[in-house]
Amino acid sequence: MCGIVGYIGDGNAYNVLVGGLHRLEYRGYDSAGIALVDNTGKLNIYKTKGKVNSLEAFCKDKNTESKIGIAHTRWATHGEPSDYNAHPHFSEDGNLALVHNGTIENYKVLKEALIEHGCHFHSETDTEVLVQLIEYIRVHNDCSMLEAVREALKQVVGAYAIAVIEKGDPDCIVAARKSSPLVVGVGDNEFFLASDASPFVEFTDNVVYLKDEEIVLIRRGEPLKLYSLDNKENEIDVRKLEMSISQLEKGGYPHFMLKEIFEQPSTLHDCIRGRVVNDGKYITLNGVNDNKETFMSARRIIFVACGTSWHSALIGKYLIQDMCRIPVEVEYASEFRYSHPVLTPHDIVIAISQSGETADTLAAIKIARGMGAFVYGISNVVGSSIPRETHSGTYIHVGPEIGVASTKAFTGQVMVLTMLALTIAELKNTMPKEDIERIAQWTLRMPELVEKVLGLAPDIERLSLIYTYARNFLYLGRGYSYPVALEGALKLKEISYIHAEGYPAAEMKHGPIALIDAEMPSVIIAPKDHLYEKIVSNVQQVKARGGNIIAIVTEGDDEIRKIADHVLEVPEVPECLTPIITSVPLQLLSYYIAINKGKDVDMPRNLAKSVTVE
Ligand code: F6R
Repeated sequence: MCGIVGYIGDGNAYNVLVGGLHRLEYRGYDSAGIALVDNTGKLNIYKTKGKVNSLEAFCKDKNTESKIGIAHTRWATHGEPSDYNAHPHFSEDGNLALVHNGTIENYKVLKEALIEHGCHFHSETDTEVLVQLIEYIRVHNDCSMLEAVREALKQVVGAYAIAVIEKGDPDCIVAARKSSPLVVGVGDNEFFLASDASPFVEFTDNVVYLKDEEIVLIRRGEPLKLYSLDNKENEIDVRKLEMSISQLEKGGYPHFMLKEIFEQPSTLHDCIRGRVVNDGKYITLNGVNDNKETFMSARRIIFVACGTSWHSALIGKYLIQDMCRIPVEVEYASEFRYSHPVLTPHDIVIAISQSGETADTLAAIKIARGMGAFVYGISNVVGSSIPRETHSGTYIHVGPEIGVASTKAFTGQVMVLTMLALTIAELKNTMPKEDIERIAQWTLRMPELVEKVLGLAPDIERLSLIYTYARNFLYLGRGYSYPVALEGALKLKEISYIHAEGYPAAEMKHGPIALIDAEMPSVIIAPKDHLYEKIVSNVQQVKARGGNIIAIVTEGDDEIRKIADHVLEVPEVPECLTPIITSVPLQLLSYYIAINKGKDVDMPRNLAKSVTVE
């Protein structure tokens, strides 16, 4: 949540930082700010409520000359979005400026102590407490900023990624992280710092991912220095960045979300590449074959995830139970962590997270590890925290997902889960070899079939006009289509702000059926699978109550066509692969409805891409 950028070098810091903030805006966009030290040693801090564009407008007539600076785009946790709560925050004497991503849990105690020592505060944020504390320590201990940061962080309970600059030392940035991401870009005579590498991908591909409780000293003209909180010098591990600038641009699409929906044929291809090989005869997934015994002897699998990733996990449950005959539970990471979970070393916990940074999922992983379970991670962002915290895992390889509403990550996760289930089934011999091979061959066809589904876009755009002003939607599905219904409803809610409920179709008659009337459309996911006849009767039940029906059906389905008001036909695929095919029209439907309503689909209100706070 919140994005941090820092720069030190010979270039124009303002331009680098503002460009970087635009790239990080997906992380939060309720206010933005920048701190720069000019060549006279003056610390200029500019911040405004609103998006990065508002900050740029605000800075138009300001002095933005500088070769060092830090900047921030905010997703509010403590204190409403406002100019004064925006970052950077500064020490009372105006010597330090600091940006922060995360939450300082003990900020109230620290604040009270500082007030007793005569400090005055200008904001309601936990962040201001941190910068005042660092300066207080620096002045009272007569120490360097690096030492003061270290001492202050020892007193802090919570999560942080921070960057600090000092008026009197325009050649240095001190930064640190704990449970919130931070990466340093190492260029020629310049350094970059950011919550992820996207702000500096065009400047350098040499990166250093900070570890938890690591402090970095970035000094102009000198090599980086990394320290632990107890002041041991750590080794610098410079990695090569796997990200290209074109992945971060809209590539001619009006929105990242639409680009990412249309990218799915190629992201699915990337996701499968090198994993389903030899025409489906061989499947290999990182971290599974090298932990064969663990997967073969697992007594139970527990998924932990949030939001869209939780919906993928639910599909994972169907896949693993069907193919591997292992009992599976699916938990919201936020509930799991406080539910006194009962785990044993015979359990495998699988954490799914696009960002690899979701705080609740990370906390669930720590609990699971602590209880002796084997933890496997499925994430998208290389170098993020979850792959580091798990025993083993794999990436979905769908490239940076920038639209706040997850689309290509969802289909990538489901594809990885399919390959995971097939791999375990093969190890455990729970499925005939020819069935495994047949499904593996179908996975190879998914890019082409999703491409075909995308051809429905013009029809869906027209259809969206009919339902743009509906106030409520019901999404129904059974079996593998039930999580798809949940996901379809979430997509609509988050970008169009229309209330939508996903429900298991058969459960509808136990309550939600009372809501059905001509005003409330039902989207029914009804591909030809082993529950097809059952869902046909659910379609009839909705129709009998005067409801309007949009049905997602398999090509050539005449039965539902006769009952539903609108049908969207998708290609026939094996049942376990239907979620990948049926979720795509739902992504498009929510996109077009939101566009018709004039909503900002890439930055929906109150949301942010990665939720690094509880
Ligand atoms: C919805 C969406 C969120 C995320 C959730 C978990 O479109 O994007 O619901 O799925 O915040 O995020 P990750 O997968 O990064 O852990």
